[in-house]
Amino acid sequence: MRLLKCLALICPIGAVPGSAQEFPVPTYGVVGPEGSIHMPDGEFRATWPVLGTWTILDEGEVTGQHVVYTQPGVIEHYLETGTFPDGAVLIKELLEAEADEYSTGTAAYATDVTGWFVMVKDKQARFDGNDLWGLGWGWAYFDVDDRQTTTTSDYRFECKTCHVPAKQTDWIFIEGYPVLHTD
Ligand code: HEC
Repeated sequence: MRLLKCLALICPIGAVPGSAQEFPVPTYGVVGPEGSIHMPDGEFRATWPVLGTWTILDEGEVTGQHVVYTQPGVIEHYLETGTFPDGAVLIKELLEAEADEYSTGTAAYATDVTGWFVMVKDKQARFDGNDLWGLGWGWAYFDVDDRQTTTTSDYRFECKTCHVPAKQTDWIFIEGYPVLHTD
């Protein structure tokens, strides 16, 4: 029933009927022709839920924060099935951070955005031969000045190696996202 609902109501939004880039969930312009990857249309931070955050430390000092977002509906799908839906977009936003003394103790807060890492779930190997796609995902990095053009040319060298420790959890560092944990 849930699937039928999706097909009837949600799927047409943002999809190009019959084209290779058609996904069963809206991808908000993230996937373009022939598998090009872009930042989503609009201000995703206002409407997409946060999966979790990472605090980056350098010799004990907080230097950055990573905030990971996904489209509405993805968390619910993951909790029901234990998998990301075809077309799920994960955006890891990189921010600088500063620490200060507060009434709660020493606390760090995020400041300027420096860039975004984007992954798009692809269960159908739609873009075979495109070096941004593989292992069931599209992979791309964007500098804060350019949301349209990725600086990534081959995920195998620029993304995959570092994500190997998360291979068992579909290449995603699930431990950082308590909202997805069921136990
Ligand atoms: C230097 C190692 C490294 C490289 C290179 C790297 N990643 Fe990651 N990535 C990580 C780690 C570790 C995390 C989780 C912890 C963190 O953010 O520090 C992560 C998290 C992510 C997340 C949030 C979802 C998740 O897996 O937890 C996305 C999205 C992501 N990376 C995309 C990419 C893309 C796309 C590339 C290539 C353009 C890439 N990463 C390259 C190490 C790396």
